[in-house]
Amino acid sequence: MSIRSNISAVYHAMQLAGKYPASMRMKIIRDYISLYRAKGLTPEEYHEFGFDKRSESFRRDFLGLNEQRFYLDLLNPLKYFSLARNKFMAHKMLENTGIQTSELYCYYQPEACYANNLEYAGDLAGVLRILKARGVQSCVIKTTESSHGDNVWVIQNIDYQDSDAILTHFDGQNIDLSSVLGTEALIFESVVRQTEQFSSFNASSVNTVRFMTALYPDGSAKVIATFIKIGRAGRCVDNAGSGGNVDVCVDVETGEIQHAIQFDGWHKVKDIDRHPDSGAQLNGVIIENWDSVKAEVIRFQQAFPYCKAAGWDIAITDDGPVVIEVNDFWDRTGQFFIRRGWRNEIRECYLAWKATGKDYSVGPQRLPLDDKKMAAKFQ
Ligand SMILES: Nc1ncnc2c1ncn2[C@@H]1O[C@H](COP(=O)(O)OP(=O)(O)O)[C@@H](O)[C@H]1O
Ligand SMILES: [Mg+2]
Repeated sequence: MSIRSNISAVYHAMQLAGKYPASMRMKIIRDYISLYRAKGLTPEEYHEFGFDKRSESFRRDFLGLNEQRFYLDLLNPLKYFSLARNKFMAHKMLENTGIQTSELYCYYQPEACYANNLEYAGDLAGVLRILKARGVQSCVIKTTESSHGDNVWVIQNIDYQDSDAILTHFDGQNIDLSSVLGTEALIFESVVRQTEQFSSFNASSVNTVRFMTALYPDGSAKVIATFIKIGRAGRCVDNAGSGGNVDVCVDVETGEIQHAIQFDGWHKVKDIDRHPDSGAQLNGVIIENWDSVKAEVIRFQQAFPYCKAAGWDIAITDDGPVVIEVNDFWDRTGQFFIRRGWRNEIRECYLAWKATGKDYSVGPQRLPLDDKKMAAKFQ
């Protein structure tokens, strides 16, 4: 390790140690530096995941941000990242592959006023024309590149006016369509309905199962980990967001719910057996049709080879699994919910693709002259 990264590790270790009682600080500094050297662990990961209290196997098998970036540069290369990260592009990529997803009604993008298309709109009149023509009465509106449930609005009714529409939010609040349309791109898609079983956990949100999947060069795919995000009463999204949520591990083999927790923020986590609002039993419950849902999601991964290690947010419906979102650079929190790390599985997938000799990664583009001086000329 270079002198510079050594100094940086010590600096971060000291900042991190400030969060612990004085009696523990020397131990934390030593422990963090050794984990940083071994696996590039960030101080946030150390603190959030409680590395000082974790088992040896968790500490060893945890996949942190830096190591994840390294593997995903090859597996989910940046050149394809918008295919998953941009929710409009993801819809387009999933269409016609036989992967069930919500129906895309309309793509709003201010520049789309220059394009002539039945699905794209660049202004209020265009959005109204599309939604009316399709007879849309309810929908979900999302910004195309948000995450963690920010900017996802579930609209339960649309009252069309002459030159605007009144949108009734799932909690009864009204807003004008015109006030939603700004400079950010949006998608309007159908509201997905989950099974009775998933609704019984919490009815106000669609509670998605995160499937971590890996694709191999021989075309086979497998499910690495599964867990469910469950919303709190009155929230329309299942993510923790500002209101917290409930998270459970699902045993990949059996479909049994385990390790349910109430998550009110890092270090505000409580083991639970039942949902705190609905009272529904969680631990021990078996997800219905687990084997067929899993087989379908494996097929999804095979049909989406641009991301070879994908994180799927899947709604379980009466018609089978429906993709709510596919993530190319998934968060690490799932390892906290399932209580084990997934480093070995992701690394194994990386090594399998690496062995093919194909290079899917994109390095920074090299310029023939000194980059900084060149860029300064163009300011
Ligand atoms: N079409 C939909 N129908 C019903 N609920 C949805 C729909 N899209 C999103 N949601 C809810 O909002 C949550 C967040 O949406 P998602 O598209 O995964 O965005 P994010 O990038 O914020 O995770 C979902 O997990 C689900 O609870
Ligand atoms: Mg999501």
